[in-house]
Amino acid sequence: MALFPQSFLDDLKAQIDIVSIVGDVVPLKKMGATWKGLCPFHQEKTPSFNVNGDKGFFKCFGCGAGGDVVTFVELQQKIAFPEAVRYLAERAGLTIPDTPGGADDRAAASEREALVKLHEEASAFYREQLASPAGARARQEIASRGLTADTQNKFGYGYAPAGGKETLRSRFAAQKIPADLQLKSGLIVERDGRLTDRFRHRLMVPIARESGAIIAFGGRALDPGQVPKYLNSPETPLYSKGRTLYGLAVAKEAVRKHNYCVLVEGYFDLAQVWQAGVQAVVASCGTALTSAQARTLKRFTSKIVLNFDPDAAGQGAAARSSELLVAEGFQVNVVLLPEGADPDTFINRHGARAYVEHLTRSRPYLEFLLDREGAKHDLTRPDSRRGFLNAMLTVAATIPDAAARDQFADRLAHKARITEGVVRDEIRKAAAQRRTEAPAVAIPVTARVRPAEQGLLWLLTHRPVEGLAAMAMLDPDDLEGLVCGPIFALAASLGDVPPDLLPGLLRERLNDAEQALLDRASRPEAAMASPEDCVTALKRLRYERELAAIQREIEALDDRRAPSGGASLSTLWDRKKELLRRIEQAN
Ligand code: CTP
Ligand code: MN
Repeated sequence: MALFPQSFLDDLKAQIDIVSIVGDVVPLKKMGATWKGLCPFHQEKTPSFNVNGDKGFFKCFGCGAGGDVVTFVELQQKIAFPEAVRYLAERAGLTIPDTPGGADDRAAASEREALVKLHEEASAFYREQLASPAGARARQEIASRGLTADTQNKFGYGYAPAGGKETLRSRFAAQKIPADLQLKSGLIVERDGRLTDRFRHRLMVPIARESGAIIAFGGRALDPGQVPKYLNSPETPLYSKGRTLYGLAVAKEAVRKHNYCVLVEGYFDLAQVWQAGVQAVVASCGTALTSAQARTLKRFTSKIVLNFDPDAAGQGAAARSSELLVAEGFQVNVVLLPEGADPDTFINRHGARAYVEHLTRSRPYLEFLLDREGAKHDLTRPDSRRGFLNAMLTVAATIPDAAARDQFADRLAHKARITEGVVRDEIRKAAAQRRTEAPAVAIPVTARVRPAEQGLLWLLTHRPVEGLAAMAMLDPDDLEGLVCGPIFALAASLGDVPPDLLPGLLRERLNDAEQALLDRASRPEAAMASPEDCVTALKRLRYERELAAIQREIEALDDRRAPSGGASLSTLWDRKKELLRRIEQAN
């Protein structure tokens, strides 16, 4: 009886880099296409242990041990197959689907097929609605963006009605689609014990998988005050946001042919770029790229032209995506459009030709980085040059290709006015160290995540009403400096979303590392006794942080190192007493 669906195991093996898993416990050296080291399964003095990253297996020619990455973990950690799979899934940030039993593999496959059909039906319904009188506002939205009928058809836009008689729910009911399938699609939700449409009064953007089959939707709000601006399908048996690249089905031929791909953020950025004649374009949909997405792209090209929004969120996502892409061996160029425009607004304002011109003037990300970081340091001073060099070394270490790394070293040396050979050496050292130290996916250290943080995460994702109530009892300061702080900030920023949508909305906006945190907090033992307990524990953590800060100030005063104008000793003592009292109460 198979414990895990084959599709999941395939995914896992496709996304886990065996070299980095083995490299964590066995120092490895690259020899041609494979990696070599001392076998961890028998005593030896000369390395006969081989790891093949491309093919995903290891083999010891001394003792004969060999197999795939799961086998390696089983043998090395002396654990059983299911545990090894769980360990690797956690490292890769993959959620294990809960389909126990082997026959379920087939059942799951036929369910997915039924879901694909259902999405086709839904898409046809939404398109019908767009053409109907009810779709006027949505048609106007498309037109106001300057998108043509041709583009509209190409991307299959539709309209989800506001309510009334004709809803997706009533269509599904007429077609006798089973309720549980409807719910599994995420297009229908249960509210107050009744089935109802997830998407209402929205411009609908179908999201297809690589083959072109529709597996999810994104819905753009049409009225001011309608939140959130974009509502997307939740994670379903068909759809995982972090593994889907919007537009790939339409773009892939062009990407292969031209051997590059423009990467934008939004659904309509993509449509504009496509309409401007640049057909090799995909969208990440508002978050930083995940490694699963990067690996998918890698099958088509290794050249990316990144064109994210110039706003802070967009540039943050751009930096994270670029770093990931560089580490995955892509050549990355970046485009910055003037006037703070995203591709959509820029093309709408200035037209296709002006846009293409900006594309041709894109710059290599690494050069862009050298300039940007270089500008932060006074490169006439030796100590600042050193600081600049150190800042760049961490990035340089992630470049997998040795030739590309040396090229970067030379540019960096020139800029930092340090001898080329020295820089090359340091980069090589940093890269070697990274290989033996860093896991492939940055997973956060569990120890630093406090139970109270886990508890709040658990509430937000399992009891969103209580989770939001707990958030309302907390100040922003209570959540500052926590490992999961960014996730809480995100939850707060989502505002007034219906609580049942919160878990999905949160999850789809997280990066790999944050998703791993969330998965960890999904285990039942992460739950705390009550929301109040969780709030109290978080408050206590904050008081403890403040207490530590005050203690430092008091010690500084004692040493007469305090900056003038700081608080007096007696005020500090008073605050300390007050904090101690609160901590006492919170126990
Ligand atoms: N996005 C999302 N959910 C949100 C906001 C954004 O899924 N609440 C995704 C969507 O795929 C969106 C992309 O992130 O297309 C870019 O977001 P943003 O820049 O905020 O939106 P624009 O595309 O500029 O939106 P618009 O032009 O419709 O105002
Ligand atoms: Mn935008």
